[in-house]
Amino acid sequence: MVWSFFFFGLLMACTGNTASASCPLQMSPPRVVVRFGDSLSANCTSLSEQTEGMGWESTHQGVDLVLNATFLPFKIDSVSVWELEPMCFVNSRDGDQCMETLPVTVYKMPDSVSLNYSLTKVEEGQKYYIQCDIANVAPARNLSVLWLKGNTVIKTETFDESSPSPVSKSSVLTLTAHRDDDGAEIRCEPKLNLWPEKQGPPSGPPVRSVTHNVIVRYPPTFNKLENETLEMTVGENMTLNCNAKGNPPPSYRWEFPKFTKEWHEKEEVIEPILTLPFELPGVYTCTAYSNQGTVTKYFNISEAPRSRTTFGVMVGVGVAVGVLLLIAGAYFVTPNGTFSFNKGGYQPGTPSGPV
Ligand SMILES: *[C@@H]1O[C@H](CO)[C@@H](O)[C@H](O)[C@H]1NC(C)=O
Ligand SMILES: *[C@@H]1O[C@H](CO)[C@@H](O)[C@H](O)[C@H]1NC(C)=O
Ligand SMILES: *[C@@H]1O[C@H](CO)[C@@H](O)[C@H](O)[C@H]1NC(C)=O
Repeated sequence: MVWSFFFFGLLMACTGNTASASCPLQMSPPRVVVRFGDSLSANCTSLSEQTEGMGWESTHQGVDLVLNATFLPFKIDSVSVWELEPMCFVNSRDGDQCMETLPVTVYKMPDSVSLNYSLTKVEEGQKYYIQCDIANVAPARNLSVLWLKGNTVIKTETFDESSPSPVSKSSVLTLTAHRDDDGAEIRCEPKLNLWPEKQGPPSGPPVRSVTHNVIVRYPPTFNKLENETLEMTVGENMTLNCNAKGNPPPSYRWEFPKFTKEWHEKEEVIEPILTLPFELPGVYTCTAYSNQGTVTKYFNISEAPRSRTTFGVMVGVGVAVGVLLLIAGAYFVTPNGTFSFNKGGYQPGTPSGPV
């Protein structure tokens, strides 16, 4: 451990990266990210009292030695190379020269981002791939390709690429078709990681591919439970929900208990939701089918047991009627023990009523 620190320190000293100690100059900004074709400017300031002169050296364009300067700007109107290493140098009075390189990254946003896919429609369980092609982007070593499903990143790919000039890159997303992905939107987004998090390139919104809409064919699947047990009350409306998802959307077929078969044949039911005043208990069967498969759901319908309140009302009504009859009897009974009401009431054609 100690040795490695020692060698690391030595290495740093030799490469001159610890400039403040051996080479007292300051770069502003300390590093530059510039778009190809844009202008570049930087300042170099010498921190030494012994400065005799300063200059910039660059493969592209330089600034000759300026005597007695402690501050020297550098500017390129239009960056037209993909790699440049401007160097600021300081000559000191004792004849020493020190220099420091300004790190420059030249970038270019891609010309286009496109998606290519193996299949436009897939069946559940099938493997398929989508390819994202990114044309002419630089530098590819700072490129990452984000795959998004909706707004969720599902894959990120980076590239091992040393070329600083534009290259074209592809990323492949391999998927296994699942019913939950039917209708999902997939796209890819190239991102140059040259700026602080969340801060995009100085100009323009993120570059995105067009969206690919996934189409997954899958058999009908019920939204609710497979089988249901329900209680009906004669004459009251009840709803049977046989809705199923599927691609293509399923068709429906119903089968009713034998008793209502006539009705069923008269009028074929093809809706997924049935609302009816049910007359008969039994098993109502619904089948959802498509070219992807068939599923069946059973509605077990039983008659609701007569409730206590209904029973209570009926008893109450019975008692009341009985009491009324007793009162009426006492009132209409004649001394000879027959009902005067009956005498008149059972003779058709004659006016009836109490005498
Ligand atoms: C360089 O220095 C000049 C003068 O002080 C200043 O106007 C300019 O903004 C500086 N540029 C950079 C990139 O720091
Ligand atoms: C670009 O990528 C290289 C290699 O991954 C990394 O060292 C460098 O810091 C990146 N450049 C910027 C400006 O982030
Ligand atoms: C639904 O009912 C049918 C017929 O009674 C039965 O064969 C099937 O296993 C049931 N399914 C479930 C999930 O309970």
